[in-house]
Amino acid sequence: MRPERIAVLGAGGFLGSHIAPALVAAGDTEIDAVDVQFDKLGPEHERIHRIRARIDEPAIIDEVVRRCDAVLSLTALCNPALYNTKPLEVIDASYSDLVPLVKACAAHRKRLIHFSTCEVYGRTALDAAGRPMREMNEEETGFFLGPLDRERWTYACAKQLLERVIWAYGRHQGLEFTVIRPFNVIGARMDFIPGVDGEGVPRVLASFIGALLRGDELLLVDGGRPRRSFISAEDFVGAIVAVLKRRDACRGEVLNVGNPSNDISIRELAVALSRAFAARLPGAAPARLRNVAAEEIYGPGYDDTAERIPDIAKARRLLDWEPRMSIAETIPPIVDDYLARYGQPATPIRPAAGMQGGQ
Ligand code: UGA
Repeated sequence: MRPERIAVLGAGGFLGSHIAPALVAAGDTEIDAVDVQFDKLGPEHERIHRIRARIDEPAIIDEVVRRCDAVLSLTALCNPALYNTKPLEVIDASYSDLVPLVKACAAHRKRLIHFSTCEVYGRTALDAAGRPMREMNEEETGFFLGPLDRERWTYACAKQLLERVIWAYGRHQGLEFTVIRPFNVIGARMDFIPGVDGEGVPRVLASFIGALLRGDELLLVDGGRPRRSFISAEDFVGAIVAVLKRRDACRGEVLNVGNPSNDISIRELAVALSRAFAARLPGAAPARLRNVAAEEIYGPGYDDTAERIPDIAKARRLLDWEPRMSIAETIPPIVDDYLARYGQPATPIRPAAGMQGGQ
């Protein structure tokens, strides 16, 4: 039997750089790794074939889809700082550029594993009758987005529409698909450090690590009260490898992939990261936290979700998978990775005396 050939679109990004090597390690697989840059992907591998291309070129998409057995589509502009500042680019990257991919997979009868987002659930978890739910469930939770002037929800809306396109091709045109909704994956190589290998505001992990590396304050929007359920990249990748292997079980399914046990406030994340830095750099100056208005970081049109906890019963059942890494186990290796890649901080830091993990 020839090896399965999997196209990974966005293989050079944070998630792709974890997933592509895991797929070749897990089986007799050939990977077509498509991206515009591969700095995060690590050393060359004989079964990972790098194709430098943009996914908004339909000819490339058609060629890649024809050649492979399955497509993992990971490309996105998934940084909230862009949703209200570059909404048109966000819509193209999350929707317009990917419709041709969905059509190509349907036309050529190729399996599509599409990475959507937990953001589709929106501001808060509500059931069909508008009653609050604790966890976000694939079949029971509605999509509650904000009004148009809260451009934060541009991304969620574009991602939701692509999910509906995929669903419709599955139902009416025989497309074999699985949609993954990742819930706040954190790990090595996430995003960028502003002023070093990118500009703007990265997601919260890289924002805080960037501040710690510079000796700046860690900025807490809404007092750091919003909560997220963070999952380690390692646990996340375990689920994705299982999706690839369990083809029949995952056909036509939408799956939350996250870790409900790691539901913490952003303030607690700031404290945990500060402590992990201090453990690596004993004797350093205290890390400082500062409350800011969301507008100070994101400008007008930002909005947020107070809490985002995944219901992962379906992923457990279909994948025979369980996320295992706690926040305490997840963070130190991430800090090591950032220190190794970006060097020691200019102004050393340590947590402030008496600093508590907050709400
Ligand atoms: C983002 C994306 O929109 C999702 O699609 C994606 O699934 C998710 O990240 C992810 O990482 O998986 P969000 O969790 O809101 O969603 O992104 P972050 O930028 O990491 O923000 C998390 C929280 O931290 C927000 O409440 C934000 O206001 C806060 N934050 C961020 C701060 O308090 N300070 C900062 O410096 C940055």
